[in-house]
Order: sequence, then C-alpha cells, then structure tokens
Amino acid sequence: MCGIVGYVGPRQATDVILEGLRRLEYRGYDSAGIAVVHATEAGGTISSDKRAGKLANLEKSMATTPLAESGTGIGHTRWATHGPPNDRNAHPHLGSTGRVALVHNGILENFDALRVELERAGHDLISDTDTEVAAHLLERELTAGADLTTAMQRTCSRLRGAFTLVAIDALDPSRVVAARRNSPLVVGLGDGENFLGSDVAAFIEHTREALELGQDQVVTITADSVSITGFDGAPSEGRGYHVDWDLSAAEKDGFDWFMRKEIFEQPRAVADSLLGRRTSSGALHLDEMRLSEQELRDVDKIIIVACGTAFYAGMVAKYAIEHWTRVPVEVELASEFRYRDPILTSDTLVVAISQSGETADTLQALRHARAQRSRVLAICNTNGSTIPRESDAVIYTHAGPEIGVASTKGFLTQLVACLLLALYLAQVKGTRYGDEVTQVLDQLEQMPEHIESVLAAADQIYELAAAHTDAKTVLFLGRHAGYPIALEGALKLKEIAYLHAEGFAAGELKHGPIALLEEGLPVLCVVPPRDRDQLHDKMLSGIQEVRARGARTICIAEEGDTAIAPYADVLISLPKVPVLLQPLVAAIPLQLFACELATLLGHDVDQPRNLAKSVTVE
Ligand code: G6P
Repeated sequence: MCGIVGYVGPRQATDVILEGLRRLEYRGYDSAGIAVVHATEAGGTISSDKRAGKLANLEKSMATTPLAESGTGIGHTRWATHGPPNDRNAHPHLGSTGRVALVHNGILENFDALRVELERAGHDLISDTDTEVAAHLLERELTAGADLTTAMQRTCSRLRGAFTLVAIDALDPSRVVAARRNSPLVVGLGDGENFLGSDVAAFIEHTREALELGQDQVVTITADSVSITGFDGAPSEGRGYHVDWDLSAAEKDGFDWFMRKEIFEQPRAVADSLLGRRTSSGALHLDEMRLSEQELRDVDKIIIVACGTAFYAGMVAKYAIEHWTRVPVEVELASEFRYRDPILTSDTLVVAISQSGETADTLQALRHARAQRSRVLAICNTNGSTIPRESDAVIYTHAGPEIGVASTKGFLTQLVACLLLALYLAQVKGTRYGDEVTQVLDQLEQMPEHIESVLAAADQIYELAAAHTDAKTVLFLGRHAGYPIALEGALKLKEIAYLHAEGFAAGELKHGPIALLEEGLPVLCVVPPRDRDQLHDKMLSGIQEVRARGARTICIAEEGDTAIAPYADVLISLPKVPVLLQPLVAAIPLQLFACELATLLGHDVDQPRNLAKSVTVE
C-alpha cells in the first residue's frame, strides 16, 4: 500500500527511483511522483513531477520534460486513502516555500487538527491528503533552523497514526531522511550509495544488504553513511540482513504476468518452504520457533488471525491442527478480532498469517493479543517485516518475492507452514506418534512433484477459461479442507476478473445458495479424495443436486474418481493425496482459471483495480 523509494549516490537519482517504483508499483498504482534536489548558486532547489494513474504516465511526462540531474531524490507510488487519485493529490507534497518535498505511506489520524493549526498560522494547503500537513510541519521546523533529521524527529512527535515518511531539503542535497511508525521501511546498503524502500524489491538490483528499521525510528542516509535515531533524537540501530533472492526473482522471466510466473513457481516455493525442517534423527524442527516445548504444551486454545487469502490458509490450518493435536482452533478475520473482545489467556496461542508481514489489520490483532499476554506466532514470507518482528515466534515461508497482487505462491507456502505448525504441535504435545509425523512429512515432500503435474495440465484450464469469458457469476463448492479452497477460488475471480463469484460449503448449498442455480451457471466443485468416503459421497450428492438444476458442473477430483465422472460436465484431475494436503494441489486449477479468464477479459492481472498487495492501513 503505497511504495516509497529514496536514493543518495553517484547515479542519476531519477533512474534509480523510477526503477524502484516499477518494482514497488504492486503496492499501489493510483498515481506516481518523484522529487530530486540539486545544489544551485542560491543554495539548492527541488524539482518534482507527479501524475495520476500508473507509473507509465509519470515516465511519459518525464521523457518530455526531464527533471534536473541529481544524485538525491525520493519517489512514491500511491494507493489512495485521503483524496481522489489525481495529480494534485499525488505525492511528493511540497511545503509552502517549496523547500521540502515529502512522500508518505500510511494514514495520519490527526491530520485534521494539524491542518486547522497550519491554516490558522497562514499555511496554504492545496491537496485533499492527510500527508500535506507533514510537509508543512517539516518545512516549518527547517525554517526555524533545524536540520532535516531534527526537523523529521520533531515532526514525527506531532503525528498520530501509521506512517513512513521520506523527505528531502532543497538546502541540503547530501541527505534523504525517513521515519517510520506502523508502516514498512528498509534501508539498502550500497557502496558509496544508499537506498530506502518500502521493501527490498526497490533496490534489489543494486544491493542485497539491507537494514531493517524498528518502530518509531528516523533514518538519515547520505552517499556513505546511514544513521538512525528514535523520534526523541537518541541514537539507535537497525538490524542488518542479507536478502536471499536476487533481481531475477523480481522479473517476469518471459511470463505475461507476475501472477502466472508465481503460479508456476509453486513447486519450488513449496520445496523451499520445506527445506531444513528435519533434524538428523528425522524429527520435525522449526528453526525460529522461539517458544519452548513447555510453552507449546501449555497451549490450550489457538486463534488464527489473517486477512484475505491468508485467512483461507488459516481455515485449512484449523482442520489440520484440530485433527492432529485436539487443541481447539478459532479462525478469525484480523479486522474483526480485537473489536469483539476475544477471550485470550497466556495459554492461548495466536497465529498471525501474513505474506507481506505488514497488513495493518493483522498487525493490530497481534498487538491486541500480546497486550492480553497471549503468545503470538507469525507465519510470514517477508524477512524483517513488522509482523514477525513483533511476534514471539515465526515460521518463515520461502516463496521468494510475490509481486502479483493476487496471492498464489504466498498462499501455497502458507498452507505448508500451517501444516508444519500442526505437525510440530502434535509432535511436542505427543498427540501423534513420531512415525505418523514422519509419514506426513514424507507426503509433504512429494507435493512439489504433484504440483508440477497439475501445472503440466494448465492447457485444459486455459480452455475452460476461454469457454467462460461471458460468465457473469461463478460458484465454487467444497467440503472440509476443500471448503476454504472454494472460497479462495471465488476470491481470485473477484480480485482479478472482476466477476461475481461465491464459495460455499457444499453441504450448505441446499440451505439457500441452491436458489442461485440456473441453466448453464458454472459451478466449480472441489471433490474430497475417495478415501474419505463419507465426505466424498456427500459431495457427490451436492454435485448431483447442482446438475439436476441445469447448472454446469466443473469437478476438480482425484485421478481415477469414476464415481464423479458421470456427473461432471468437465473433469479436472488431481493427483491422489491425503485430504489435508489436497488444498496444495486443488488451489492450482482455480488460480490458473482466474489468471487466464482475467487475461482473456483484458484486465491488468498484476494490478487489479482498487486493490493493493499489502494493505498497511486499517
Ligand atoms: C490484501 C491483498 C490480498 C491478501 C491480503 C492479506 O488484501 O489484496 O491478496 O491476501 O491483503 O495480505 P498478507 O500480506 O497479510 O498475507
């Protein structure tokens, strides 16, 4: 949600920043802007350009009227919160005299009061944004004599809410200063140059050495230094780390969309997320499980909090954890969690699932849980992000960077992490024998191969999508662990194909949704494996009910499922795997279907309208 870039060094800042914004555009694409500072005889000046719409609009404008040459600058790609997406509301925002330029990600909750204060003092604010007040406050501090770092510290102490701010001062071309509270910011450490970004993708082609910043910190970068303080000016430090993926992971590699590339990366992503999980004796081992075995044995209830796709991974986790450990599990939308006064004790384990590690709803839910003394475990794909940093323990997924807004490999690797957590709890609590845990781990290790075989049949799904370009509604049915997959299939279609799609528990069909069925309506049915005969047979009845009403049944079922075949208008085969692992293969045809249908409908699959990948506001 809003991408931010900053640079100081010997290169053309505009080139570095535009490249960074291109890689961060998935975070928001309502407008883009850039500002650079360069020395003049009069001291220095800022030049900037900003345009509504995608980054391409800004690039077009800058191609006609280039900004001044400079090695210091900032950039922004926006996901609009306050004020419509137009040129005026685009970032950077300038102060009254144009001495300062500032970009922002987050929401300044007290901007109204600050705006009144500034207007009373004679400031003329021209945008509808919450951000502009910060530019004016910062400039007021500079005019009073503070340097940019001190001015930023003082400004931040006046702000409430969530923010990453990055600013430049016309009279000091040597530095870029940034601050963060509740919104992401990382520093890229170069040789004779330094970078700032909402995430490492912003500078990955220049350096893989990064510094993670803590809460309420101000960072000043020059070409050859990085210094960090608190908002109070006290010296502070960041945590250095090496990024274990490179530029090629952030490129499309010949695919039309990042999303399609990421779907096809899933065998590797799943394999990587399983790597190094066994000790030499074969037991399951989770390296960043900072909770002791005794603490885990004491856990008497688990609450999973997450949003969007991650929430559906949590639903699958409930089936696995309860089945293998007999510990009761609740799955809760993170945005609802703290407002219902949940019952939490020190023996409650709260599991926060988030690909980005920055989703504000999930972060606030985990903070609420920790304030009630519950322990929090994060399942996350982004090293150094806020959610794992504020958790007691973490299971990192190793999907690599996920850039397509609609989550795919992020989801599959979350499923893997959830299954690993369930097995680990079973191992520690002794609710499953060691050889049972080993058996499931063996089955999990075969999943990359199974996923590969589903991907090899992608053409069948593409044909299916081509046959449904005029569909107005698509329904999805599933049971047990297939139910969250039905919900995820529907979410994918909504997100990128802008189609009305709904997922239902198949048994619930007859209690209402059946009224939606009509001649030819496509219904995608995720069929449980045959060894779960009760589940399978009940699903079969549901499919027959659908067919009896003239709807079109598209069944995703285990290979050789001859019982389903007569009732399937289209049959898509899945490899034979246990029911709790089936989501790892069943999700794939649904991802491919949504990706292809959205492509055929002419939509921008990687940047669907109104969405942002990482939603850092509540
Ligand atoms: C946004 C994205 C979804 C994603 C959700 C949770 O809404 O559009 O695709 O599933 O955030 O993201 P997280 O990074 O917390 O997994």
